Amino acid sequence: MSPFGEPRTKTLPGTLSLPSGLDSRRMPAHIAVIMDGNGRWAQQRSLPRMMGHQRGVEALKRLVRLCGAWRIPALTAYAFSTENWRRPEEEVSFLMALFERVLEREIRELQEARVRIRFLGDLDALPLQLQAQIAEATRSTADNDGIHFNVCTNYGARSELVRAARRLAVEVQSGHLQPDQIDETRFAGMLHTAGDPDPDLLIRTSGEFRISNFLLWQLAYAELHITDVLWPDFDQADLEEALLDFQGRKRRFGAVEATLNLEAESNDP
Ligand code: IPE
Ligand code: IPE
Ligand code: MG
Repeated sequence: MSPFGEPRTKTLPGTLSLPSGLDSRRMPAHIAVIMDGNGRWAQQRSLPRMMGHQRGVEALKRLVRLCGAWRIPALTAYAFSTENWRRPEEEVSFLMALFERVLEREIRELQEARVRIRFLGDLDALPLQLQAQIAEATRSTADNDGIHFNVCTNYGARSELVRAARRLAVEVQSGHLQPDQIDETRFAGMLHTAGDPDPDLLIRTSGEFRISNFLLWQLAYAELHITDVLWPDFDQADLEEALLDFQGRKRRFGAVEATLNLEAESNDP
């Protein structure tokens, strides 16, 4: 591999049609991804961590394109956590400037691909220029009928859950809601992800076996795929591998085989 991370040769230049080993009827409706390992990717090449973040953007672009081509309706990517402010100020400002540059550069392509982009998290704490770009990108793609692409920016699941509880409390206090009207559907409707189905598949790169405060509510029944590949290297073959892994899982949602079959029969027309 070149020290500057030229694309690996393990995949041939991509055909975007669905690989024959995958079943188009059993694709996830929503993939969530923890894009981890940018720093280690750079360190392995004696490059500054920032180069890893830069290359990470290319991996994300690849993934959005592939999800569009393989008819995966929703993708949620973890770009910056509420805990990532704890990094050196130089790295944080680099990331904020990178988000601004990428949004400016990519918005046209996102439009052409009919992508609907949204940013999930506490956006008020972001630099004003970035907030303005986010508002414009969200507004201008809101009616697009392509993939729903969520970018978690200053996102933390605990903060999201506290915010939901607070919003419900305000409704109760104002008399618009009774406490016993709060159920799972209403609660989920108060989360940043309201409107999207829960992710079926969570991918985490760089071999870390943890959730790192990501989508704690929404991942309740997601299948987890953890790969040692570092995020900037994540490519078509890696997505294919994650999907094959996903399609090989037996999802039971707490039931057993017999009751699952009965449920499926009763849902048949
Ligand atoms: C993920 O890569 C990107 C962000 C969290 C912004 P890291 O920067 O965490 O890379 P490692 O984990 O240090 O290798
Ligand atoms: C999770 O990665 C956050 C993002 C990918 C944005 P981290 O690198 O911040 O997570 P930890 O610190 O290893 O748990
Ligand atoms: Mg990390």
